[in-house]
Amino acid sequence: MSLMRKKSVQDMLVFARTSTALRRELSAFDLTMLGIGAIIGTGIFVLTGTGATVAGPGLVLSFIIGALACGFAALCYAEFASMLPVSGSTYTYAYATLGELIAWMIGWDLMLEYLLASSAVSVGWSGYFQSLLAGFGIHLPDMLTAAAGAVPGKSTLFNLPAFAIAMVITALLAFGIKESKRVNNIVVLIKVAVVLLFIAIGVWHVEPVNWNPALPYGFSGVFHGAAIVFFSFLGFDAVTCAAEEVKDPAKDIPKGVIWSLAICSLLYVIVAAIMTGIVPYAQFAGIDHPVSLALQVAKLNWFAGFVDLGAILGMMTVILVMTYGQTRILLAMSRDGLLPKIFSEINPRYGTPYKATWLIGTIIALIAGFVPLHTLAELVNIGTLAAFSLIAVAVIVLRQREPDLPRKFVCPAVPYVPALAVIFCVFLMTQLSAMTWLCFAIWLALGLMVYFGYSRHHSLLHKA
Ligand code: ALA
Repeated sequence: MSLMRKKSVQDMLVFARTSTALRRELSAFDLTMLGIGAIIGTGIFVLTGTGATVAGPGLVLSFIIGALACGFAALCYAEFASMLPVSGSTYTYAYATLGELIAWMIGWDLMLEYLLASSAVSVGWSGYFQSLLAGFGIHLPDMLTAAAGAVPGKSTLFNLPAFAIAMVITALLAFGIKESKRVNNIVVLIKVAVVLLFIAIGVWHVEPVNWNPALPYGFSGVFHGAAIVFFSFLGFDAVTCAAEEVKDPAKDIPKGVIWSLAICSLLYVIVAAIMTGIVPYAQFAGIDHPVSLALQVAKLNWFAGFVDLGAILGMMTVILVMTYGQTRILLAMSRDGLLPKIFSEINPRYGTPYKATWLIGTIIALIAGFVPLHTLAELVNIGTLAAFSLIAVAVIVLRQREPDLPRKFVCPAVPYVPALAVIFCVFLMTQLSAMTWLCFAIWLALGLMVYFGYSRHHSLLHKA
């Protein structure tokens, strides 16, 4: 039974109301900007190329499927966030509903999401950074441009720019430079401006003949593409990490989650249509800066440089939010006793989990240096899809168990919407490669070992 032990929802609410020293100053608008800041990044700027290679112009459908999967999950998130506006995101929600073991597994899965996404976005950043350097005639030695085996026909070994950017962001976080609302808002405006300009200018260069055949690899290509570009939507869930700094969390967080996802989904679908309309899909193979490629094909080189710059700035905020989210989830797990104390030790001088940030940041940077983007993105997706499915189940469970808890946002059509979230997410998981599944299984097994070897006995609930 101890595997099912749960934290009390009422205690959590009291804790959230009384303990927080953070100022409550974020509005629904700020949260939407925060969400967009975490969402638009490597997915749209880099993985659209891979997606187009496997789905062809059907990439548009891939994006729609990814958006639906995330949309259903987002409605579940929104209900939870309106009920339990506490930090720790899905991990905390699960601890209150599905019990300690599942909460642990979700926290463990979220590591695949946040930690590896930080690595993945660093790799994406590196592609655009190198494209910008190339514009100035600067080229790094091949060995230092990408992980081994990442670029067919090139002898690469280590992705130095990806490693470096992850370490720079780690330093910022360790020294307590939290992304300020203002900086985030500026970067988001630049990112959205780049995407809107791409749409406004690119649309005139579409050659409809490139959309033919629409589904060169049939629906299996579309589904495989959806499982890859799913990555581009992640980040809306990071909005919930700010729960304790929001003016009216129960009302504003659902708005932030849903608006940021809706806006990005619309932009993505249009961008996918335009990109595959400008460039014959086969040309995207092996390209790590597909948006600027589309502009080069359209002979808009002046604009390609601008996109590079926007992507570089934009991806930095994604790395920042993801790495921040990772350290804060570990902090929540460590406070509950499930992880060693080092993860919740706050350095008095900087006010941050200093040691844990350096530890996690170095791991993120090394992975970014040595592992290719595609492998990372698939792992991020499988971990997140699993966590989304569990959270959808949790919504149904909590409706039964705590029907009277006030919910300022109510997920519509329960149990159908959560059920659809599970069906979409599990289906997308089945589209990922056998290798990804194997790594995922090993990761889960490792998680169970840590839980039974350490966490279960150190849990505060165990000691209580
Ligand atoms: N959605 C984020 C990105 O695409 C993780 O970079």
